[in-house]
Amino acid sequence: MNGRRLFKRLRGLFVSYAHIMTSSDSEDSKYKQNSGEDEFKVTPWEVEGEIDYDKLIKRFGTQRITKELLNEVRSIAGKIHPLLRLGYFFSHRDFDWILDRYRSNESFYLYTGRGPSGMVHMGHLMPWIFTKYLQDKFNSNLLFQFTDDEKFLHSQILSRQEIRLYTYENILDVIAIGFKPQKTRFIVDTQHIKYLYPIATEIAKRITFSTASAVFGFSNSTNIGMIGFPPIQASPCFLPSIIEGKQTPVLIPAAIDQDPYWRMTRDVAERMGYPKPAQIHSKFIPGLGISGKMSSSKPETALFTTDEPEVVEKKVATAFTGGQATVQLQRLLGGNPIACPVFWYLRYFFDSERDSYDRLLKCKSGNLLCGECKADLAKESKIFLKEFKERREHAKNVVADFMYDGKEYEK
Ligand code: TRP
Repeated sequence: MNGRRLFKRLRGLFVSYAHIMTSSDSEDSKYKQNSGEDEFKVTPWEVEGEIDYDKLIKRFGTQRITKELLNEVRSIAGKIHPLLRLGYFFSHRDFDWILDRYRSNESFYLYTGRGPSGMVHMGHLMPWIFTKYLQDKFNSNLLFQFTDDEKFLHSQILSRQEIRLYTYENILDVIAIGFKPQKTRFIVDTQHIKYLYPIATEIAKRITFSTASAVFGFSNSTNIGMIGFPPIQASPCFLPSIIEGKQTPVLIPAAIDQDPYWRMTRDVAERMGYPKPAQIHSKFIPGLGISGKMSSSKPETALFTTDEPEVVEKKVATAFTGGQATVQLQRLLGGNPIACPVFWYLRYFFDSERDSYDRLLKCKSGNLLCGECKADLAKESKIFLKEFKERREHAKNVVADFMYDGKEYEK
């Protein structure tokens, strides 16, 4: 891929305030998210091509997160999380409504999840770190779903036993994030299905195959387990109202590829007597390779939470950067931080905003070499992962405390 195309692909990750403006819900885009006219594809199971996040907002009919909305968050929460301020979370549905309700003393639940198809890497942690911030700031209860059924149904290669193992390993990562045990409940689909199934059947009955295939891109060759799965992921949106015995708002922080589920759920919510779930959508994190999001299927471009320090060192050393071919050229022409995954990793995880800006300027002016940024990233990642691993170890003792047992949360 040439530099210009790569630049275009990564440019979308860099949202400056100047780009922030409102866009309205577009009805006709509702069920057409995978029409062939665009050069990229986003479904819950496939992300392909050059992602244009502005187009995604139109295609999915979501709202852009505006400056006003950020101010609103600041006035309630005090501090805006960097992942929100930097535009990693860039789009929403009804987040403003959730904040309004919160202001009038109504609490809301958070709901997010993980498909346990492999080990967890740093890219996966981003939305969860943000979810923890929301839990802390809004003192919210959190439902966290592990869709072991979805991953088994979707994968051509993973056995149920492998998925069981990943589910356990992933649970340790989620606990290590630091969610409040009294306010957090895990749902592992194959273990907790009895709490979901009654709601799922109510949802499923209201959705035709024709709607589901338009929303999810199903075809005649899709296995029927996958076709029947979406209501299982939709059910936790309504569980809080059942737990609380009254209509209870839910906010879902998730990458935007999960949006088809929520569109479907919102469509049936009111008919079923529940509030529509609200969402806040993130972008995809770039991998350390030349393109695409960080992916478990390209392990050399992802930093796993269980990677040993030498492995981290090596992966960072071989990462793609936005630098020039030689030191002389770099000094002369400067690098391209916007197209550099090392820059973005540092920005999202470790640099303060000010340090990140300094880094950007120095890189562009040829006063910073890729080796220096890589050394920073390797050092910081090793420190971060060392501590994370300790928390993961500790998590082994408290898994049972997080499991949903059909009872109410402690008040
Ligand atoms: N389907 C998601 C995945 O494959 C997992 C998931 C279940 C989820 N429920 C969710 C993600 C709610 C975000 C929000 O990773």
